[in-house]
Amino acid sequence: MESKNIYYIDFGTQARFVEEIEKMNTEYYLANGRNKKYHIVTYGCQMNVHDSEKLAGMLNAMGYIETENIQEADLIIFNTCSVREHAESRVYGNIGPLKRLKDKKPDLIIGVCGCMPQQLEVAQKLAKLFPFLDIIFGTKSLHKFPQLLYTAITEKRTVIDVSENEDVVVEGIPTARKQGVSAFVNIIYGCNNFCSYCIVPYVRGRERSRRPEEIIYEIEQLAQNGVKEVTLLGQNVNSYGKDLVNGITFPKLLEKINEIKGIERIRFVTSHPKDLSNELIAAMRDLEKVCEHIHLPVQSGSTRILKAMNRHYTKEDYLRLVEKLKTNIPDIAITTDIIVGFPGETDEDFEDTLDVCKKVEFDSAYTFIYSKRRGTPAEKMPNQVPDNIKHQRFQRLVKLVEEIALKKNKQMLGKTYEILIDGRSKRNNLLVGRTRTNKVVNVKCPEEYMFKFVNVKILEAAEHWLYGEVI
Ligand code: 5AD
Ligand code: SF4
Repeated sequence: MESKNIYYIDFGTQARFVEEIEKMNTEYYLANGRNKKYHIVTYGCQMNVHDSEKLAGMLNAMGYIETENIQEADLIIFNTCSVREHAESRVYGNIGPLKRLKDKKPDLIIGVCGCMPQQLEVAQKLAKLFPFLDIIFGTKSLHKFPQLLYTAITEKRTVIDVSENEDVVVEGIPTARKQGVSAFVNIIYGCNNFCSYCIVPYVRGRERSRRPEEIIYEIEQLAQNGVKEVTLLGQNVNSYGKDLVNGITFPKLLEKINEIKGIERIRFVTSHPKDLSNELIAAMRDLEKVCEHIHLPVQSGSTRILKAMNRHYTKEDYLRLVEKLKTNIPDIAITTDIIVGFPGETDEDFEDTLDVCKKVEFDSAYTFIYSKRRGTPAEKMPNQVPDNIKHQRFQRLVKLVEEIALKKNKQMLGKTYEILIDGRSKRNNLLVGRTRTNKVVNVKCPEEYMFKFVNVKILEAAEHWLYGEVI
């Protein structure tokens, strides 16, 4: 037995539907001289971005091709996020106008998937508001997409699938990553933490680790195809392996990945401060491919609010952890997530958050205004903070975070860093890459440096980017 209670299933169970749709698409091609096209719109985190790569992989396997232009698509999918109300409203606002496209092209298939419809009442609301939708399915049904699509096409009805299969890990879903040298790799799905503001445990289920051999095999294949940098994904990567019985831990997994030939940089998101072990800090220090960057969401600097958030650490615990990281990994970049206006947050609590920012000096921080989420404990908490106060605090926090980010980036001026070039800046024709510490650097260099490592001297620094030249 490899795991305590997880069922590993293979995408092969969907083969019949993939084949059937591919046949239909081949017939379409022969009759019309063109392939059917798909367009995916993605909201939310890297986990969702990677899920969209799987949707794209499945669609490619079924004979569709991608288009950037939503107007010419034969199939449109919205992969949604529920983490804040704003993300949800954008989706409602953007689905409505698709009705006109569907009126013009009755065979157009429109699907909504991801974290929103994983909540049954949201799936029902979507079906009611937008009766022209063809497929509505949650995160837990991602792998069943071919079957759902087949049913929608052949039965010409809205197909809704919001299954509650908690303990499943699906292997072998085809994945279409954008061409490049960096790749996302899932290592653990779900979350057991139940932070009191957060919808994630309800829409992504309990923690389920992938088997190490599957992860290693996937990364070896990626390396053979030219990938140099992997980002390991999990809502809480530090929990990796706790649900497996073979004794593997996250640091041990890092050790194994560190040995894979061709992989030069290893990153991971996200780490929960309560689970960040000494063993992991040692692994980050000792394994040469593991980058000197950690995303360590603090959420609040107030011990009282952290308790109400169910985070299981105090302000002092967090500061001690940061000290330990900085001592062991001298040039480490620390980034974070911060919420302002959690229910009951006083001016004093907010000052504690500012204080943590000043003490840690985050390289960058994602800042959020607290948003009430259905069914979470914080939704019902008394003393919800009025909007104007939330906004005032938010402005102050952003200002401080930006000042610190600029100060940190300016410290890099005149120094030389290894950059992995992996993109192009749209504005000024420069190539763009990242340092090991995950800082974005615009680089003046010839096209042939694309997807290569180069040493770059930093000449300009702003809050969110740097500029440099190859030396
Ligand atoms: N309101 C505001 N921000 C939230 N986050 C999660 N839930 C909420 C919420 N209800 C933020 C947290 C998390 C990030 C992904 O989103 O900071 O780390
Ligand atoms: Fe990602 Fe959470 Fe948004 Fe889902 S709800 S897309 S897991 S951030």
